[in-house]
Amino acid sequence: MPRHVAIIMDGNGRWAKAKNKARHAGHRAGVKSVRMSVETAAQRGVQYLTLFAFSSENWARPEDEVSALMNLFVEALRREVTELHRNNVRLKFVGALDELNPGLRSKIAEAEAKTANNNGLRLTVAIAYGGRWDIVQATRALARRVADGSMEIDDIDDKQFAAELQLSETPDPDLLIRTGGEQRISNFLLWNLAYAELLFTDVLWPEFDQAAFDEALSYYAGKQRRYGHTGDQVEAIRC
Ligand code: FPP
Repeated sequence: MPRHVAIIMDGNGRWAKAKNKARHAGHRAGVKSVRMSVETAAQRGVQYLTLFAFSSENWARPEDEVSALMNLFVEALRREVTELHRNNVRLKFVGALDELNPGLRSKIAEAEAKTANNNGLRLTVAIAYGGRWDIVQATRALARRVADGSMEIDDIDDKQFAAELQLSETPDPDLLIRTGGEQRISNFLLWNLAYAELLFTDVLWPEFDQAAFDEALSYYAGKQRRYGHTGDQVEAIRC
């Protein structure tokens, strides 16, 4: 079982178009798949689930779609947080949260505070997030430490760098799932996905159901993770 599953939830717009609906209806339908993914991850023993809900680049979408998405996030938080809390889920948001409107920011802060002491599934939602932005903000943090004398340049290594990234408290994803048929990373967790297994499925996000999630978990179970070693070395370590 992967310890950490990350998901790029793609295909809401195409799902809506195929049904002659507005794009925001696709995003609305996608909330059901979010709920299913959280439940399934928790049931199957996945410890960390990270969802890409809104990228740095998504700000460039038409204004009405952006505002429909922001309203949907507020509504989802209003509706779902009690249930998430009851299920011992710990909720965390990452990204340039200062770019969000104050209403959404306060709902996020409320949800994080309410679930802060839960020790079940760790659910991270990336909003206004970009992998390059994440790397740049980590670089700035390290540069500041060097400038104020609390760190030497030669102390910067993988570990110190990862500690400044948004997912500093979360192990790297073991499995990345992308729905919607495209086979790309789209500026998601660029640093953290270095060794993730990648699963691309044509299923559109609103139609991603428990069977599709389980299929992704089986795909992962069939993989041998080598981290640069040979297959024989990995087998020998296992024995
Ligand atoms: C990508 O599909 C999807 C998004 C940009 C939004 C994802 C948001 C949700 C699923 C809403 C609920 C989320 C939470 C965390 C409550 P797309 O619009 O790019 O689809 P397309 O490629 O078919 O146009």
